[in-house]
Amino acid sequence: MEKTQIGLLGFGTVGQGVLQILQSREDLHIAKVLVRHLENYQGVKAPLTDNADEILSDPDIDVVVEVMGGLHPAFDFITRALEQRKSVVTANKAVVARYGPELLALAREVRQSFLFEASVGGGIPVLDALANHLSTVPIHSVEGVVNGTTNFILDQMDQGMSFAQALERAQRLGFAEQDPSADIDGWDSARKLTILTGLAFHSWVAAEDGVVEGISRVDASHIHRMREMGLGLRLVARAERHPDSIGFVVAPAAYPLSHRYLALHGSQNAIGFLSEAGATWLEGPGAGGVATATSIVSDIQRIRRSVPDREPITLLPSFVDSVDDTYVVFMHDPERPLPEVPHILRSGPGFMVVPHKLAELEGMVQYRYRAK
Ligand code: HSE
Repeated sequence: MEKTQIGLLGFGTVGQGVLQILQSREDLHIAKVLVRHLENYQGVKAPLTDNADEILSDPDIDVVVEVMGGLHPAFDFITRALEQRKSVVTANKAVVARYGPELLALAREVRQSFLFEASVGGGIPVLDALANHLSTVPIHSVEGVVNGTTNFILDQMDQGMSFAQALERAQRLGFAEQDPSADIDGWDSARKLTILTGLAFHSWVAAEDGVVEGISRVDASHIHRMREMGLGLRLVARAERHPDSIGFVVAPAAYPLSHRYLALHGSQNAIGFLSEAGATWLEGPGAGGVATATSIVSDIQRIRRSVPDREPITLLPSFVDSVDDTYVVFMHDPERPLPEVPHILRSGPGFMVVPHKLAELEGMVQYRYRAK
């Protein structure tokens, strides 16, 4: 059988992870790798180019893997690859969150596969679980801890570091995104939640239409006071289906120390789905070169194994409904006073904890959720 020829756009941590995994493969071959500056890769044993046309216009390349990150030119390259009748695999959550429906439609039109397992939860097969396994039952809610940088920063603050020191350390260790606000202000989690929501509820909710609050207003004293109350903090992304709207929120949330979220450290992620089948949880490495590359290679394998002339593989969303009972912490913001909230479970200087049941939080709904 002929090898599947792959063009790799981007050669950072994830791109290098893909190359590492594919080195031992007989069936999958990296034909070309796009890098920005060839001079930075002297001595690297890979077929490098700095000209995207050499990949996008090469008729021998079957699958384009985009791991450059950023919206542009990544979106333009993906579009061109599909138009050239190549299947595309990407890890780019910014592109998928913003342009997912458009790219899925284009892929269907040109009868190519468009897969993006690596864009949410790194090495955890979360989209496959959602779009295939759980597509048979209505899903009520999706939630998770999907950002490792904030796990790391919150843990460091728990150990006594200030927010600024912890962020600086996360950046030094290579955890944080290039622009750390994507992590700490919640946008990285929000993009992942948009993708999860798109597949779970068939509705691509833009982060701007939900509520996104990061951890930059959390300080070490909040964490210490919460710990005294037996609570710990994680940045949680959550979407729920309601009859006429979708609740979409990314916010620092407090949980008892025994909760699964508090056992996640560094790049570990956990994602849960509440469906007619019950609660399904997936946990694992949410970032890292080789971990994320396993999701990419698994997508490439699915494309290779797909039957010619059958429908190409795209991720199809499933059904819906509502519920739940976790806790959300709302940090006091002097600039934006919180509305009167019934059912405050606990509060202290700088924070309060309220149940997350929307039905009980009418005053909060306007503030936290904007109906679609
Ligand atoms: N910056 C992301 C994180 C990388 O901290 O989890 C993985 O998407």
